[in-house]
Amino acid sequence: MSNRQTEGLEQTSQRGPDGSLRHLITLEGLSREELTDLLDLSQFYVRQPGELPARDQSLAGHTVANLFFEPSTRTRVSFELAARRLGADVVNLDMHSSSRVKGETVLDTIYTLQAMHADVLVMRDAEPGLPTFVAGHVQPHVSILNAGEAHLSHPTQGLLDALTIRQHKGEFGNLSVLLVGDLAHSRVARSAWHALSALGTGEVRIAGPEHLLPAANEFPGAVRFTDLNKAMKGADVIMGLRIQTERMSAAHIPDNAAYCREFGITAERLKLAKPDAIVMHPGPMNRGVEITGDVADGPQSVIQAQVTNGVAVRMAVLATIVRNAQAQRKYS
Ligand code: CP
Repeated sequence: MSNRQTEGLEQTSQRGPDGSLRHLITLEGLSREELTDLLDLSQFYVRQPGELPARDQSLAGHTVANLFFEPSTRTRVSFELAARRLGADVVNLDMHSSSRVKGETVLDTIYTLQAMHADVLVMRDAEPGLPTFVAGHVQPHVSILNAGEAHLSHPTQGLLDALTIRQHKGEFGNLSVLLVGDLAHSRVARSAWHALSALGTGEVRIAGPEHLLPAANEFPGAVRFTDLNKAMKGADVIMGLRIQTERMSAAHIPDNAAYCREFGITAERLKLAKPDAIVMHPGPMNRGVEITGDVADGPQSVIQAQVTNGVAVRMAVLATIVRNAQAQRKYS
């Protein structure tokens, strides 16, 4: 038996008995109205660097546990800040010094935290299906928030990307959004796709080397390019994606310089997009590979705004999930 006990994975709904979100595992299936509500609440929590951060007591008395079985800087720190700014107690489990290294299963780790009254478990893991599996085994008052699931889903990243686009570009219906790079292994791209589709984005383009593009039946309706110069023409938003070397065999890892020549977002290429196009990247960036430093730090880059928005989005998601859980307790 796998240490992670995911055999016999069953589909678990991320919705409670009243139909509202009890967990957040994927953006797939969320309506335009639900996404817009989350973006509006996120915008309410946005503060610019230099301003005091937004705070309230939406999570007072609640405990949030961060369980990151894969590395993270932005997502882990922003979930912690978000939970603290909403008045929660926060636990960060260090996986390298936890009892996981002694062979404890994920479920036993989850049950242990649940027994200590953790109400929200924020999880990142390389195993597809793990958040859904865990959500099927926790007590009714416990919520699972997916902070990155293999190549499949990174819902709060999808929300912060949508929020950043809305802040800079307004209505999605008028926009041409280009996702470029290693889409095959990218949970960021999949969650962006779910959000952009539901929000009615005018056109989504995907570009990259053929072997790093997703299967033909994924991203239905997106326009595929293997020539980045063609893909850039007239784009309003360009989102670079990291090459996920940790999810591919050595034989498929491209040469950095050759990759940058063909698929890097460079200042020269950026001139092909609309003059007011914005450049995004979820981070961490490989400068000089998928994006050059002058573009990442240049006037069209909104990469730091994405990071700032990450805290606001995670506050909105935590507040919404806990509010829904409280309402569902009354309902059941
Ligand atoms: N974008 C993102 O998920 O970054 P981290 O891996 O640093 O959390």
